[in-house]
Amino acid sequence: MAQMENSQLDMARKIEEKGVSEIAAESRPAYHLSSPVGWMNDPNGFSLYQNEYHLFFQYHPFSKVWGPMHWGHCKSRDFVRWEYLPIAMAPDESYDQGGCYSGSAIEVAGEHVLLYTGVTDRYLEDGTHDYCQVQCMAKGDGLNYSKYKGNPVIDGGSLPERGSKEDFRDPKIWKEGECYYLVVGNRNADGDGQVLLYRTDNLEQWEFLAVLDESKGEYGKMWECPDFFPLGNRWILMVSPQDMRAKGYEFHNGNNSVFIYGNYDKSSYRFEREKVASVDYGLDFYAPQTVQTADGRRIMIGWMQSWDAKITNDFCNWSGMMTLPRELILNEGKIYQSPVRELERYRKNKIEYAGKIISERTALDGIRGRVIDLQVDITEFDFHYFTIHFAYSEEYEMLLQYNHLRKCLTIDRTHSGLVRDVVCRRKMAAEPSVSETQKETLTLRLLLDRYSVEVFLNGGERVMSAIFHTPMEADGIVFDSDGMACINVVKYDICV
Ligand code: FRU
Repeated sequence: MAQMENSQLDMARKIEEKGVSEIAAESRPAYHLSSPVGWMNDPNGFSLYQNEYHLFFQYHPFSKVWGPMHWGHCKSRDFVRWEYLPIAMAPDESYDQGGCYSGSAIEVAGEHVLLYTGVTDRYLEDGTHDYCQVQCMAKGDGLNYSKYKGNPVIDGGSLPERGSKEDFRDPKIWKEGECYYLVVGNRNADGDGQVLLYRTDNLEQWEFLAVLDESKGEYGKMWECPDFFPLGNRWILMVSPQDMRAKGYEFHNGNNSVFIYGNYDKSSYRFEREKVASVDYGLDFYAPQTVQTADGRRIMIGWMQSWDAKITNDFCNWSGMMTLPRELILNEGKIYQSPVRELERYRKNKIEYAGKIISERTALDGIRGRVIDLQVDITEFDFHYFTIHFAYSEEYEMLLQYNHLRKCLTIDRTHSGLVRDVVCRRKMAAEPSVSETQKETLTLRLLLDRYSVEVFLNGGERVMSAIFHTPMEADGIVFDSDGMACINVVKYDICV
């Protein structure tokens, strides 16, 4: 058996090594983590281990579509430059043969401890389908990991009454005092999502403590990939619900990721929900996870793709990328997200314009590119629509359009070169912020990285992320308005 286990992981590692060597650096994002080879989904095990940030991910290196899940692995010192490491885990045990699903990691006494979901998915001789999800542990040195002999560490026997053994996944661990806690996603008998809280002092025997929160028919069905952390004077439960219905501009159909703001009483394990809001309002964002840095920042990374759209490039053997890690800050009761400040070190070739009047299609000298950090501040609003065309050529364009009457921002990838009938447009609420002198400004910061854009509104008050696979020669940027806008523009190239 031990022989078999090694060979499955070794085989996957060989496939990966060969695949990565065949992909040119220019055919993947420059400063966003992308799949080494084949398919990638959720970020996993985002953690600080021996002074480096490790990130694992759901991974199927054998093809560009989802398949039996491995844990891919990489690390970084600054969240911008990532080093690929060999695959950490393959689904090679009886309790995880159906996949090593999402989970988390923590450093304990010099060891790197991984908690993940093991899936059993097989048909028995009598024709029954044997399917369940359990929580498992592996330990390693930052490079090689061994699964714990006593796995699983949490199985269906510990579930609260009416908890599902089939939908029980994605443990996120943290330490508090002498104990370790984890939250894990689950579904109850009504089909509602819920988050369960567990505790241990030895990592091996876990005790179920409480149901922290549940969807109660309102926020989708199964709650995937929970995370739970203090931010400012609140606790935030972050979950990714499946099967949601669209609601205004706040939520869209299908898989969403939400911040549940609340208060948490540690002695009674009660979480009191205050409000729920989307994490990202774009087309491609799911399953975010956070890590706390050595200097105390709360940094979040998400998978920049959508389960329903699953658009991918047709020119290269990788599929899937992550957002740039973002710092979360609670400001006047609202979470702001900003690109990690480490990115600023890679900004070069600054080009700046102040007080530019835009009343027709306007290109500005030097403002172009696909690997850039672009800030556009609108300071005069004598228009209905203001539009930024980017990844632009005669044939292609991505659109970001601000509607000043309706106070909303639309991202549109209809003409980005897609040949599939997927969702191409999404809107979010967007209002200018007002300074002490009553001056209105709407700030848009666009991070472009070849095949993706992340748009930060008003210093990260709301964010929208989207991917597109427009040919790289479409690198123009054009501003337009149907009236008169006044803008300030700052552009940097990102040189990694
Ligand atoms: C979320 C998810 C997780 C699961 C993983 C499987 O995208 O469905 O709940 O662990 O992906 O790859």
